[in-house]
Amino acid sequence: MTRIGILTSGGDCPGLNAVIRGAVLKGETLYDQEFVGFLEGWRGLVKGEVIPLDRSVVRGLSHQGGTILGTSRFGPYQDEEGSAESIKATMKRLGVDGVIAIGGEGTASASKRLHNDGINIVGVPKTIDNDLNGTDYTFGFDTAVEIATESIDRLRTTGNSHRRCMVLEVMGRHAGWIALHSGTAGGAHAILIPEQPETLEQICEWVSSVRDRGRSPMVVVAEGFKLAGMDHAYSDKGLDGFDRPRLGGIGEVLAPMIERQTGIETRATVLGHIQRGGVPTAFDRVLATRLGMAVTDLVADGEWGKMVALHGTDIVRVGFDEALADHKVVPADRYQEMRVIFG
Ligand code: F6P
Repeated sequence: MTRIGILTSGGDCPGLNAVIRGAVLKGETLYDQEFVGFLEGWRGLVKGEVIPLDRSVVRGLSHQGGTILGTSRFGPYQDEEGSAESIKATMKRLGVDGVIAIGGEGTASASKRLHNDGINIVGVPKTIDNDLNGTDYTFGFDTAVEIATESIDRLRTTGNSHRRCMVLEVMGRHAGWIALHSGTAGGAHAILIPEQPETLEQICEWVSSVRDRGRSPMVVVAEGFKLAGMDHAYSDKGLDGFDRPRLGGIGEVLAPMIERQTGIETRATVLGHIQRGGVPTAFDRVLATRLGMAVTDLVADGEWGKMVALHGTDIVRVGFDEALADHKVVPADRYQEMRVIFG
């Protein structure tokens, strides 16, 4: 019998519960693994706060958004109790042999450090931003894109009725994947992403040409977008738990600029955490379930220090190093592919 602790860390996203369910069902059925859940991310591991996780607890979880374990942006080395030695002692006291950490980049880098410090740990990648290297897609992304696309569809009907320019701001931090995919799916007339600054003149040219055709312009902007000449992404909300600027608000900045320059009445909507909430799409449920099941194979094989990932349609094993080598941002040619039809 191997006893494993599961934790979810960083920003939540739809599909976390499906991972937990997949791991518990396969681990119990195939490998005689037993599970507990650490509460609120690394905090639960550091403080030793656990709940039992068995087949009855994970029943019906694959469609449930959020995480039944809770999450936080708390690092495992963050306070005086947070050292590898004290975590090892806590794991020993709880009879936990290894940890499955479900999270994004911050979680992967903490996991790598814990592994180097001798802790048995494996990972499952997640983030709505889809910016993690080493995996083609992260679960949560498809759901966020679906929600953003539906929002574009809705904004278009009200925008058309008033002949307004509608600006939708989506998340993604420094990656434009959510904007690019939802903007493409929703037929936006301009998509603005962090990787590719644009001038206000260019944006207004696209907006005006749409109006001149008698249509109502739809602009999708990623929260990390920088107008040409801006050094940093717009941020007026201080820092997050990892000392990174909290983004959000560029849509509200851009809308009056567009209105002033084009004379077209313009409204901004900031989608915010709506795109992280609620039920996962079928794609995300399937991906999350497969990743949760596959991570139990890593545990059974004692392949600590790795995470499961999606390559094409296959679930594979990659080192934390590969996930952390770089940010997976939108390549210039992927943006250019869509940019030719803006306006
Ligand atoms: O990384 C996921 C994400 O939703 C980003 O897109 C966004 O910038 C950030 O988290 C928001 O974080 P919080 O939930 O802490 O406000």
